[in-house]
Amino acid sequence: MQEKLQHLKEEAIHAINEVKSSKKLNEIRVSYLGKKGPITEVLRGMGKLSKEERPKIGALANVVREEIANKISLKQQQLEEEEVMKKLANETVDVTLPGRPILQGGTHPLTAVTEEIEDLFLSMGYSIAEGPEVESDYYNFEALNIPKAHPARDMQDTFYIDEETLLRTHTSPVQIRTLEQFEGKGPVKIICPGRVYRRDSDDATHSHQFAQIEGLVVDENIRMSDLKGTLEVFAKAMFGEEREIRLRPSFFPFTEPSVEVDVSCFKCGGAGCNVCKGTGWIEVLGAGMVHPNVLKMAGFDPVKYQGFAFGIGQERIAMLKYGIDDIRHFYTNDLRFLSQFKQL
Ligand code: FA5
Repeated sequence: MQEKLQHLKEEAIHAINEVKSSKKLNEIRVSYLGKKGPITEVLRGMGKLSKEERPKIGALANVVREEIANKISLKQQQLEEEEVMKKLANETVDVTLPGRPILQGGTHPLTAVTEEIEDLFLSMGYSIAEGPEVESDYYNFEALNIPKAHPARDMQDTFYIDEETLLRTHTSPVQIRTLEQFEGKGPVKIICPGRVYRRDSDDATHSHQFAQIEGLVVDENIRMSDLKGTLEVFAKAMFGEEREIRLRPSFFPFTEPSVEVDVSCFKCGGAGCNVCKGTGWIEVLGAGMVHPNVLKMAGFDPVKYQGFAFGIGQERIAMLKYGIDDIRHFYTNDLRFLSQFKQL
């Protein structure tokens, strides 16, 4: 019996040493120490032993059982540690691997230019006004001194929704909407940024949809020199000292006198190229002194009040500022183009 127990112990210890997983170790535990295991069997058969043998064999069986149990417990601990180490090794992060770049967006150049212009005029005491893009014929034309069938309507080819409703062709209707809110009392000093629409054929410098910022100042004693000074401040802030501007006499039904403001071409410097259509100049805005009829129709006394107004095309400003040679780049969302303006 002693030999049998000794043999069982050696066999169990050998099996425990060889085992490679917790699952198999548990199987060994059950097979040697379980209720149906050989050691339990020895203990159950004690009754058949002689009086002398019984305590000796009983004590030995208990010692063998304890040794196997201890060995299993140590092995269990060792296997668990090995499994944790293996898991950690598999999950090791290689900190030397290059990271995946996170694509970062930037401000669209048109937004950047709009915000820059807004900031400039806000710093000069202007506030921002807005109006609808789907506009009535009255605000877009009639209240701006352009009655129905007036030839000046041809200056802006229009997308009509019905006879009285259209997509605004300029931001000038916001002038009228704002003047009406002031109920004949100045001063009024606003800029109105927004999208406008025209049935123009798309080319390098024209789009059927573009952005404008309207400016309007109405008060007592407003003169042409105030307009000129404001436009000079604007041109210098946007383009720097080196660019030239010129004021050309022009015609808008809602201003009298009217001017067109040009900036020397960024591409050819004034010699003439495809961008400036050979003229050396690019038109960036229209302006003038608010026509007395417009003031009158919006409820202002044109004897007491005078005003100036201007309409800036942001695409042309952005093209000049960043040397962009085709207006269509602004609308195609080509990341190769847009990513050049990330820092804005
Ligand atoms: C007007 O729209 C007038 N409402 C501006 C104005 C306001 C004059 C207040 C007087 C007083 P004009 O049609 O010239 O004017 O357009 C103004 C600017 O918008 C142009 O100088 C140009 O920079 C831009 N622009 C005009 N048409 C287009 C187009 N098809 N694509 C891109 N920009 C354009």
